[in-house]
Amino acid sequence: MSKKRVAVLISGRGSNLQALLDAEQDAYQIVLVVSNVPGAAGLDRAREAGIEALALDHKPYGKDREAFERDLDSLLVLRNIEIVALAGFMRVLTPFFVRAWAGRLVNIHPSLLPKYPGINTHARALEARDTEHGATVHLVVEEVDAGEIIGQASMPILAGDTPETLAHRLLAVEHALYPACLAKLARSL
Ligand code: GRF
Repeated sequence: MSKKRVAVLISGRGSNLQALLDAEQDAYQIVLVVSNVPGAAGLDRAREAGIEALALDHKPYGKDREAFERDLDSLLVLRNIEIVALAGFMRVLTPFFVRAWAGRLVNIHPSLLPKYPGINTHARALEARDTEHGATVHLVVEEVDAGEIIGQASMPILAGDTPETLAHRLLAVEHALYPACLAKLARSL
């Protein structure tokens, strides 16, 4: 079975991208990284790994989200991308893009979905006095953070945890979870 060609979309530091690059890429192969934020640190990580890294700034598109996504989609189609992995990509995608990549568009979210879709997940887990927290890799559908779950990993919440300590500890959990889930999706296609 040939490795699935993956594009990773980022907006920032790209630590999950790094985990996807560092994992044994036997079911998938990252061939492209695109950031909507020029200068995102994750672009340098990709270049250091010898991967094509592009900035596609959303700002010149103004409010026309779909025009931005059409250009993004063209970049992906040109390179025969088979799976799109969101890794800290801070744009909500329109139905155009979500439909175009249905079943092949995956995201990592820092909560045990269906708990805490959206933002501030660590603070919300603490406010709810949860005893565990975690991360979810899921398919992307039009409703935010609501698609089919590919995999989850959890960790205990400790006395004295803050949103910052939780975020920091959860990141290591994410870095193990995402490559495993991406490989699982790649094998299933
Ligand atoms: C991670 O916490 C991820 O769960 C969320 O955005 C953050 C991205 O971090 N979707 P990084 O850019 O991968 O370091």
